[in-house]
Amino acid sequence: MKQILIDYYKEFLPLNSNTPKITLGEGFTPLVKSNNFSNKFGCEIYFKLEGCNPTGSFKDRGMFLAVAKAIEKNKTKIICASTGNTSASAAAYGARFNLETIVIIPSGKIAIGKLLQAMVHGAKIISIKGNFDQALSAVKNISESMDFEIVNSINPYRLEGQKTAAFEIVDALGESPDLQFMPVGNAGNISSYYKGYKEYKDKKISNELPVFFGIQAEKSAPLVEGKVIENPATIATAIRIGNPASANLAKEAINKSKGEFLKVSDKEIIKAQSLLANKEGIFCEPASAASFAGLIKKINSGLEVKDKKIVCILTGNGLKDPGNAEKYLSTKIIKTSSDPQSIKNAIVTGNSTSFLKRFF
Ligand code: F0G
Repeated sequence: MKQILIDYYKEFLPLNSNTPKITLGEGFTPLVKSNNFSNKFGCEIYFKLEGCNPTGSFKDRGMFLAVAKAIEKNKTKIICASTGNTSASAAAYGARFNLETIVIIPSGKIAIGKLLQAMVHGAKIISIKGNFDQALSAVKNISESMDFEIVNSINPYRLEGQKTAAFEIVDALGESPDLQFMPVGNAGNISSYYKGYKEYKDKKISNELPVFFGIQAEKSAPLVEGKVIENPATIATAIRIGNPASANLAKEAINKSKGEFLKVSDKEIIKAQSLLANKEGIFCEPASAASFAGLIKKINSGLEVKDKKIVCILTGNGLKDPGNAEKYLSTKIIKTSSDPQSIKNAIVTGNSTSFLKRFF
């Protein structure tokens, strides 16, 4: 039988005999090679499908460890600020392991699928007039006095758990990829990958680190601009963050790997999301598509990718954000009577142009 993540990578995780071996089936996500785009660009492009985690995003591979450590410390309450996915994950693990779960979210700026997840798992949801950065600052302020365990990525166990994704990629490819593209919001995940690749290199399981490209949305790009963004904005609400908590660790990943932070527009994000859906059969959420948008942007501006192995991290499932998908990616439904002849006519002459084609 397949092992669980906490066992499989135990020698790399901060475990002791009191750490409960919990799981919701996280990790071991597919690394899928793109045939269409690999051929087009003369390289090997892979997509890491983190949307295949149990709550539909990469957060689960950090949450299992943050929650295991909270239980180890006899904590009964967890709390997080979230743009959506962390709250969905915290709510699910909280429900499964009998922890009271509080999530603080920015009002009106969280995709409906994620909000519903927090609701169905029974978390207490507090919606604030403010953005993610303000929610996180409030969480830091109240957690200690109320004896909550914070399960945001400022909790070091989240990063420890999330680094397993880097191990999986090296285990699958037999070496580190040459380049890795990934979305950056609060900057925890890029820091985890860097840590994971570095630990494998230090243990001589791999020889090199990948060059990291951290992709931000144009109007939420504090690490590209080099300053805090007071009012971040983007359709990719998951990465609508103006003051990333793990900025310094992320900068280290970029500097040490000789990579770069890069910004992409909302239009480029939607285009990439649509290409992944239409040419690869992969439906990821807008923030995740930012990684592929970044790759396309770099190739178009002359990045040499010939024969390179490139991984794009697709951090969350497309069904998380049906609102934007319906608005920009859906196609027109052709309506007919039940008469087989009119169905035939519809097949032959009907037009189901996607809204995207009109948008561009
Ligand atoms: N992609 C998705 C789908 C996310 O949900 C997030 C972050 C990121 C990328 C960026 O990762 O913050 O580690 O740089 N979501 C957080 C949340 C902030 O609250 O769900 P990061």
